Amino acid sequence: MQQHEIPLEEQINHLHQQLRQAQKMAALGELASTTTHEFNNVLMTILNYAKLGLRHDDKPTRDKALTKILTAAQRAEKVTNGVLGLARNRGTEKSPTDLVALTRQSLVLLEREMHKYRIQVETDFEQTRNANVCGNQIQQVLLNLLTNARQAIGQSGRITIRIAENQTSGTVDLSIRDTGSGIPQEKLPKIFDRFYSTKQGPDASGKGGTGLGLAMCRDIIEEHRGRIRVESKVGMGTAFTLMLPVATEEASTTTVPIPKLGVPNQANMGTASSLPS
Ligand SMILES: Nc1ncnc2c1ncn2[C@@H]1O[C@H](COP(=O)(O)OP(=O)(O)O)[C@@H](O)[C@H]1O
Ligand SMILES: [Mg+2]
Repeated sequence: MQQHEIPLEEQINHLHQQLRQAQKMAALGELASTTTHEFNNVLMTILNYAKLGLRHDDKPTRDKALTKILTAAQRAEKVTNGVLGLARNRGTEKSPTDLVALTRQSLVLLEREMHKYRIQVETDFEQTRNANVCGNQIQQVLLNLLTNARQAIGQSGRITIRIAENQTSGTVDLSIRDTGSGIPQEKLPKIFDRFYSTKQGPDASGKGGTGLGLAMCRDIIEEHRGRIRVESKVGMGTAFTLMLPVATEEASTTTVPIPKLGVPNQANMGTASSLPS
């Protein structure tokens, strides 16, 4: 019987596509987990206050119950809007995007979770020009980085998110700094590798353990001709910085190529410096 050999290049392409699909599924799984938890929480509030309102027939108690129900429902609306944004726009089209607004939207999705693990989220947002990005993809990157930061902290700690425009590189820079475990210097070159994970599997919130999060972040940032950098120090914490091209008129007409910033290679990452004190 004659065997049909599939050309190596075709096989590699096929495998690559499968990996991308696996990454997408992992991201969707985590998103489903986030929203289910958020929704369950909102639902509990609504149920409890509806019961309270029914048990008491005085106006003040009923008013209070209805107000709580309304607030909870408004929160549910915000969460769905965030997720619908991700689900609706699965394309890869880039457009001028306000990274501050995008980050705020992402934080709404993780609010409960951060609260549950006693993580204080601090923001330092400068009003910047828009970045030329695909909003839903960058939101996935943010959710990944924030979840990793949360997991590295465990219980109690701080995440600081900073957004500022970088005039020198023509980018909007977004950094996420955590007070978590940190990453040993010799492990830094590995963290962007597919399937590299130091986690035992998904945690109680259904996240992590696939080793696909940072690989996906890297792919997305590379497609944006941006950069992703990491600095870490064991026992002190980790900071990831994204550098994304500012949306200039040239970028939107695409007649002038955007300068390629590139993702730093692994050798560079290995020498990633320690956190400034
Ligand atoms: N903020 C962080 N602090 C410490 N370690 C981190 C951080 N982000 C990523 N890592 C390390 O990089 C590994 C790969 O991350 P990722 O690709 O998101 O996969 P996963 O979260 O599924 O393990 C993690 O398992 C962890 O060891
Ligand atoms: Mg992860």
